[in-house]
Amino acid sequence: MTVGELLAEYGSPLWLADVERFRSNLRRFAAAWRREWPDTRIAYSYKTNRVLAFLQAAELGGAGAEVVCESEYLLAAGVIEVDPARIIVDGPAKPDSLLARAAAGGALVLADSRGELERAAAHGVRRVGLRVALDSFTGACTRFGIPPAEISAAAGAAAGLGLTVAALSTHLVSTDFEPASGRIVASWPRSPDDHVGAAALLAGLASELRPAGHHVATIDLGGGFPAAPAVATHARAVAGVLRAAGFAGALLLEPGRAIVADAVELAFTVIAVKTLADGRRCLACDAGINLVPGALSDPPRIEALERHGALSEALVTGPLCLNTDVLHPAAQLPPLKPGSVLIARSVGAYQQVASTQFGEPRPAVVAREHGEWCLHTPAEGQGALGAVRVP
Ligand SMILES: Cc1ncc(COP(=O)(O)O)c(C=O)c1O
Repeated sequence: MTVGELLAEYGSPLWLADVERFRSNLRRFAAAWRREWPDTRIAYSYKTNRVLAFLQAAELGGAGAEVVCESEYLLAAGVIEVDPARIIVDGPAKPDSLLARAAAGGALVLADSRGELERAAAHGVRRVGLRVALDSFTGACTRFGIPPAEISAAAGAAAGLGLTVAALSTHLVSTDFEPASGRIVASWPRSPDDHVGAAALLAGLASELRPAGHHVATIDLGGGFPAAPAVATHARAVAGVLRAAGFAGALLLEPGRAIVADAVELAFTVIAVKTLADGRRCLACDAGINLVPGALSDPPRIEALERHGALSEALVTGPLCLNTDVLHPAAQLPPLKPGSVLIARSVGAYQQVASTQFGEPRPAVVAREHGEWCLHTPAEGQGALGAVRVP
């Protein structure tokens, strides 16, 4: 089916989830790392995109799951049937119920603080990682993890609670507030140097813990990586620094964007075309920041389905009565009219999961497997807004 036929069948807007692309992204990402560090393990970062077909593809592709809330744990362990030993429980605010489930399944819990070690032990967790706090790319102090200078004491505390410190982890964040303006800024992918710095720090801490009897078998570098083939540079540099530091264990990675960003597109429709008082062409569309909230700081590439005529700038706006409901401030687009179809490219990471019901209920998802597009998730009905009796 063409995009036009899919829209006619399932309505507009419509999420297009390319499972084949996801699968090949994962395969190529893992291969790039294993060429440099054979014992590389991948835990797909569920928070990035939880379309079930992607989660199944991750499991079939040999990836574990990095989860940050109980629903994600239940998806991984209950629905996708990931071996709990390959589930990584991360996140800054793990409820007791999540810790209890992780304990029962034997998942690896990445402790965010000393206090969390105590709660984890109280709920029966036996195997933990310590998340090491790294400053943000803006230079700001992070709120995630335990400062490097306190890792040795935290490992001692863990041992005192009967916990095995199996891993040291970190994650190089991709978004933050710019210190001067307070604006949201994005930095993705993070550079090979940033990951080398993180790997060197974690490997150094692992050696420091050894004399105290802690054998850190796994170094977990989180996410923030580009997709293959670009990630090969990161892999080579990280493997080099781990070898130089004498680390010989497993390397765990939690990629999100690298695997799923370009596996999803959003098809949507121009509802109205007008010229603003300042002469700009404005396209009012049926999708906006309600579906692609990341457009506020990082507008997606937008293309027209039909490419006839010369390209010129257009302000692409959504259906909300917010001046900030802008998908793109100046997309290069051909002449368009009401009913024209637009495609937002590479919106697989953090958009569907963060989309809202501000305006209409959420749209349907179609998925491509074996060359065919099929309905994956129907559009939410009006019942999702409480309007169960529509006249
Ligand atoms: C702990 C952790 N791991 C992995 C990821 C995935 O990061 P990315 O999508 O940049 O690969 C995130 C994203 O926020 C994260 O917080």
